[in-house]
Amino acid sequence: MNEMLVTIQNLSFSYEKIENEILHDISFDVSRGESIGIIGSNGSGKSTLLKVIAGLYPDFQGRVKIQDMEVVKKNVNHIQQQLGYVFQDVDSQLFLSTVEEELCFGPMNQGLSKSLVKERVQKTADILGLNSLRDRQISKLSGGEKRLVSLGCVLTMNPLLLLMDEPTTALDSKNRRNFIRLFQSLEQTKIMVSHDLDLILETCKRTILLDKGRVICDMDTTTLLKNEELLAKYDLELPYALQKK
Ligand SMILES: Nc1ncnc2c1ncn2[C@@H]1O[C@H](COP(=O)(O)OP(=O)(O)OP(=O)(O)O)[C@@H](O)[C@H]1O
Ligand SMILES: [Mg+2]
Repeated sequence: MNEMLVTIQNLSFSYEKIENEILHDISFDVSRGESIGIIGSNGSGKSTLLKVIAGLYPDFQGRVKIQDMEVVKKNVNHIQQQLGYVFQDVDSQLFLSTVEEELCFGPMNQGLSKSLVKERVQKTADILGLNSLRDRQISKLSGGEKRLVSLGCVLTMNPLLLLMDEPTTALDSKNRRNFIRLFQSLEQTKIMVSHDLDLILETCKRTILLDKGRVICDMDTTTLLKNEELLAKYDLELPYALQKK
């Protein structure tokens, strides 16, 4: 039997007023080691869903559980040490002054020894090609460089669960390809939001389509992404790889 890492039951959520509900009665499970894609048009609730899973808005209705921990206020700090969250907006994620400080922050916060932090940071910098950026000021990096650092911050934590919101935004084709290889080599459980349906097709076996905060379908990625009619109904198009040439 597959061990569940994330369980979401009847999750509903509004940022402010109850009548303006953003997520409606969402339920799904994620097994340990699975890679799940979340797709949907702008404003469909994808980022909100990731933020709720990450414990950033614990005042939701329903249940969210990560491993054996309920996502409730008292558990949020502990949960956040176990998950790596790549924000859609890198500037909300990166808040320290240099790349080195950012890369060290997560593992230091997990209480790792100095030598282990150093080892993790070196390994991550090697994988992502960040060595030449380590002494740079975050504010002076290009968009793509910031994106690579945001991925690095998550990798140095070696988290149980990876939540990635548009992780390839601003990456050039070589870095996008490197990211795909890296993603495929990671054994962790991953939930990835993206408008890049080719990326989802290559990396996620299962995909959830959201529309107006509801789950429209939760199924095998290729079957879903081949269904032109269904995608069009929700303002999406076939990935390039599945378009007839
Ligand atoms: N902090 C907030 N306060 C109030 N409403 C918000 C807030 N953040 C997002 N929303 C609203 O919630 C809805 C869902 O937003 P969300 O960012 O989850 O969409 P998304 O699917 O990630 O869209 P995109 O593809 O554009 O990134 C939108 O209508 C948005 O305007
Ligand atoms: Mg979003």
